[in-house]
Amino acid sequence: MGSFAIAFFHRAELDCQWAFGALASGSLAACFWAICIHFWDFKITARIALPLHLWGQKLPVVRSSNGTVMSAKVSRAGRPWRSTKNLPQRPKEGYGMQWPEELAGDVHRTIAIHKGHDAHIAIAIGSRIQCVLELERFFGRRYFFPKVDHFSRDWQLAAELVRDHCDCESGSCPREFDTGLVVDFGTYESIQATQLPKVIERVFPVKEWRNVNHHESHALMAYYSSPFRSSLILSFDGGGNDGTWNVFVGQGLDVYRISREQINLGKAYTRVASFMPALTGFDLSLQKLCSALPLHSPGFNLTWDEAMINWPLTKLEGFAGKMMGYSGIKAPSPEASEWMRQFYQRAADGDHRLPGAVLNMMCKSEEGRQLVAASTQDEFSKFVQPKVANYLLQLKLKSINVEGIVLVGGCALNVVTNQVIRETLTSFTSPMDGGSRPRDVYVPPAPNDSGLAVGAIWSLFPPTVRQPLQYLGFRLFDEEILPEEAQKRGAQRLSDLGGVEYLAELFAGGPAWQKHPAAKTPKPIIAVVRGRQEFGPRALGHRSLLAFPDSEDMRDRMNRIKFRQWWRPAAPMIADEALEYVFGHKFGSTYMEFAPVVRDEVRQLFPGLSHFDGTARHQSVGREDEPWVHALLLAVGKRTGLAALINTSFNSRGKPITNTVTWHRLSDRPSTAWLVMFCSSLIMVVLFFCFVFLREN
Ligand SMILES: [Fe+2]
Repeated sequence: MGSFAIAFFHRAELDCQWAFGALASGSLAACFWAICIHFWDFKITARIALPLHLWGQKLPVVRSSNGTVMSAKVSRAGRPWRSTKNLPQRPKEGYGMQWPEELAGDVHRTIAIHKGHDAHIAIAIGSRIQCVLELERFFGRRYFFPKVDHFSRDWQLAAELVRDHCDCESGSCPREFDTGLVVDFGTYESIQATQLPKVIERVFPVKEWRNVNHHESHALMAYYSSPFRSSLILSFDGGGNDGTWNVFVGQGLDVYRISREQINLGKAYTRVASFMPALTGFDLSLQKLCSALPLHSPGFNLTWDEAMINWPLTKLEGFAGKMMGYSGIKAPSPEASEWMRQFYQRAADGDHRLPGAVLNMMCKSEEGRQLVAASTQDEFSKFVQPKVANYLLQLKLKSINVEGIVLVGGCALNVVTNQVIRETLTSFTSPMDGGSRPRDVYVPPAPNDSGLAVGAIWSLFPPTVRQPLQYLGFRLFDEEILPEEAQKRGAQRLSDLGGVEYLAELFAGGPAWQKHPAAKTPKPIIAVVRGRQEFGPRALGHRSLLAFPDSEDMRDRMNRIKFRQWWRPAAPMIADEALEYVFGHKFGSTYMEFAPVVRDEVRQLFPGLSHFDGTARHQSVGREDEPWVHALLLAVGKRTGLAALINTSFNSRGKPITNTVTWHRLSDRPSTAWLVMFCSSLIMVVLFFCFVFLREN
């Protein structure tokens, strides 16, 4: 037992001298006690649900948020309002100002952590979020999930980076915190996870720790960043300590949970995707599936587990996003749609068996798989939309009016479904219904798990002023070497060349581009790296590859340069002024959260703009959203007739959005050599323009 325990402790990287001492003394009870004392932080475990059993009886457990029993009312659960009405008329010290305790929230320092996939750290002063570090950007591993072997080291490095490089509004960042928040502290936590507060405290002193539930964090982050004063909020994805499908209502600063259902659409959608070789890059999963088929009839007989490959979580995370692009190649097949409709209905009851008829289609051909993908997407929308409509109806029956619909959770990255809900359930596209419908749909910039810590912070201190979140990431991690690197490569200042006007001329393939020594194509692809990095999974013009969409070839070049599949969409960024021309309606989409259909005329003139299904999964840019990008788009529009550029994130296949100058910092990582090569192949992108922009910035 001793050797097992030692090996275990070593693996967990935990300081366990007490436990070793107990083992040496041979006392099992002492050993157990030592482990309890040293591995559990009672300040946290007292607030989490533990499966306690006593003489065979399961004891009642309490799940909580902000240290309170979970209730229907989730926001401000730990901080009821107090008024100042009891202040004496004439304080002994004379007249003056007395601050209610709650106002101290404006200087309350909070650090919040999400420790699952898409792990991240956010810090805030009061309700103002100062920065968010997505660990994938720092460690170069997409959907970063802390590994057992390096758990403590990685989290400590990340906390040190936050300490040294966070851009705080006041110029100086907190060096200690009043409250630490851990999101999604589930029923069965690893011993390591319970130690996370201690690891963080190696870098920052933290006075107290609390935990916040997963979907409460999603809901609060989305609702408080929305433009609505009241809203229906649907938080849905594939996991969380408080379920996978939660419905809330926000009214003012209060948020109430009104429903939780056992629906796991994230799992259902992703698992279908996991059998598509075009998405996984690996056809063994399909072979395995097809070899099992002859044993089964067209109905629901085959269980997932019989044919599933157990993909690592970080692989699975990428499948759903690709599926959305893949599903746009073909129109849905009536036969597959009928089966997929039943599949989602069964999945809502926890039955994830896939219909044999659909498996047959998938095994037959690539075209069959494309039809199944289209039907899977289409039926996903047709499952979600009526549910949302029904929640709205229930609210109406109770005379509760909501200004908007907020969608959040990993499934809210489904831009096609978001669009369906916007077009059918709000007055956004049908103003005649203005009196009876919510006015619009809102999806935050980080609806997936990378936004959880922000919601956790806002569970303590809801923002009373709306805060833009999209650029809360970090400046280049190695920005200090930029001037030297720029000089080494002979970089010029963009402002000396003409600023956005010069750049627009390059994008348009004008004389400046034709005369340029790097001009080997009619129009260039140019990377833009500016200021603070995007927060959330979309590149929104601060770490983007951009080009003008006047041909399908340009979209293909974009995909080739990133080694992406030919069917991946390149989402355009479009100036607000051009939205009506492109879509026939002013479809705002600040964070690439919708997919409206592009007008036929525009598709013919600019074929690189839209996806195969005729939609554009675009980012709309107004002056207030990003003035520099907005000015660039208008300058492009002046020269080409279309104030738009296609945009894809500045990363490569399977890698997170990049955030270093040379990538040498991560030289011990497998991605390094590739990224350097990638940048070199872009000719003038990094070696010229990025530096120019950054210097100007
Ligand atoms: Fe989630």
